[in-house]
Amino acid sequence: MNSFRSQAKRLREQMAEDPHRPHYHFLPPSNWMNDPNGVIEWNGQYHLFYQHNPNHPFWDNMHWGHAVSDDLVHWVDLPIALTPSTSGADEAGCWSGCTVNNNGVPTILYTGVKGDFRLPHNQRICIATSTNDLVLWEKYTGNPVISHPPDGLNVTGFRDPYVWQEGQVWYMAIGSGIQDIGGAVLLYRSKDLYGWEYMHPLCVGDKHETSTLWTGSVWEVPQFFRLGDKYVLIVTVWDNDQTLYSAYFTGSYRDHHFIPEAVHKLDFGNQHFCAPHTMIDSQGLPIMWGWIGESRSNEAQQAAGWAGVMSLPRALSLRADGKLGVCPVQAVETLRGEHQRLTNINLTSTSSDFSIDMQGKTFEIVADIDPAKALYCGIKVRCSPNSEEETYIFYDAVRKRLGVDRRQSTILQDGEKSHDVHEGEFEVSPGETLCLRVFIDCSVIEVYANNSACITSRVYPSRSDSTRVGVFAQGQAR
Ligand code: FRU
Repeated sequence: MNSFRSQAKRLREQMAEDPHRPHYHFLPPSNWMNDPNGVIEWNGQYHLFYQHNPNHPFWDNMHWGHAVSDDLVHWVDLPIALTPSTSGADEAGCWSGCTVNNNGVPTILYTGVKGDFRLPHNQRICIATSTNDLVLWEKYTGNPVISHPPDGLNVTGFRDPYVWQEGQVWYMAIGSGIQDIGGAVLLYRSKDLYGWEYMHPLCVGDKHETSTLWTGSVWEVPQFFRLGDKYVLIVTVWDNDQTLYSAYFTGSYRDHHFIPEAVHKLDFGNQHFCAPHTMIDSQGLPIMWGWIGESRSNEAQQAAGWAGVMSLPRALSLRADGKLGVCPVQAVETLRGEHQRLTNINLTSTSSDFSIDMQGKTFEIVADIDPAKALYCGIKVRCSPNSEEETYIFYDAVRKRLGVDRRQSTILQDGEKSHDVHEGEFEVSPGETLCLRVFIDCSVIEVYANNSACITSRVYPSRSDSTRVGVFAQGQAR
């Protein structure tokens, strides 16, 4: 353990000078990370696992990395929890899954991949258990516990078990899709976590339906829980070899079928908030993490030696309008240091830009903005003194959109991936203010608006003085 700790520390120190590497968001000591996995509260500590390639800064040969925290915010590296076996049920990778407490035995249910990972029949469900410290994990010798998708179903994926208990019975939701129909979540049950019986689809999507949010052909990493008087199903929409965005359905749960009533995006940042994983805390409330992907070229990721960041932990609630409320967990406030408060900044059509006397690469902004008559307003971050680099977090009152505009974030032409606008439907009603919480952590931007919308993004300014902050407003309604 000691040699592991000193190696992790050394790797972190080697990377520390990288101007794009976040300081207070979790990421592995080096190399690649994608999905959060199996977060669990155990003996008063939080254990976070994650999809990890410990050898390269790109996706391949997935392991389960591991870190532990007392407060959900400061994490300590632990040794890798799961490594693909040299031969066996998970020889091509230990993919996503969850962790449960099976009568005092910490138990991981994960996706073991054998052979060509693209084929759903090569994705199977495996188990590993640990003793009380969750550091050493032993794989079940009878793996896989589910060796293939249900007979007679032509599935497009079969992975990412999510397990919960109802009375004495365990239920498992598996991320899947049905050929030519759409994404799906398949439901299984078990008395002991080892012997599983297929029941039916918990829910099936329709990839031909376009009047609401389009939900693609595979649903990855399903998460399913009760919240208030609704049930929530979170999925990551996958199509055409790509993970696109995460979505949630709210609805009801009857006779072990989920009946969706509404579907929304979880985060307007699309691939910058994928594969979210939720932990139900000791109060019964869901806390969610997502994988913040990179948007720079593979070459730039290779040169950096790391890729992938974990979002801040997000507390979920159910709002009166039926949508999910999302805000960072309270413990995030412990990261705050010195602060500055500015009040009554008035922007008119003739003074539409205001630079704030504050600079930095790692900070939080809490802003109450009254859009008043502005047609377009918001906050600028990571701005260079001559404005050649700047990123806009905007509210467009005409189009009723909230967004992050990265078209000018960097003067580097590192592919087109990071020169776009992420935005989504959002309205500030007359008389309401726009309350923004913005977290800047080097290349990471997380925006929370009015406890209802989130945008997660990445920016890679090239100039070391792209650290300024400003506010802006444009136009005036008649
Ligand atoms: C989601 C995902 C999962 C899979 C894992 C593999 O990002 O594709 O469906 O288990 O990543 O790393």
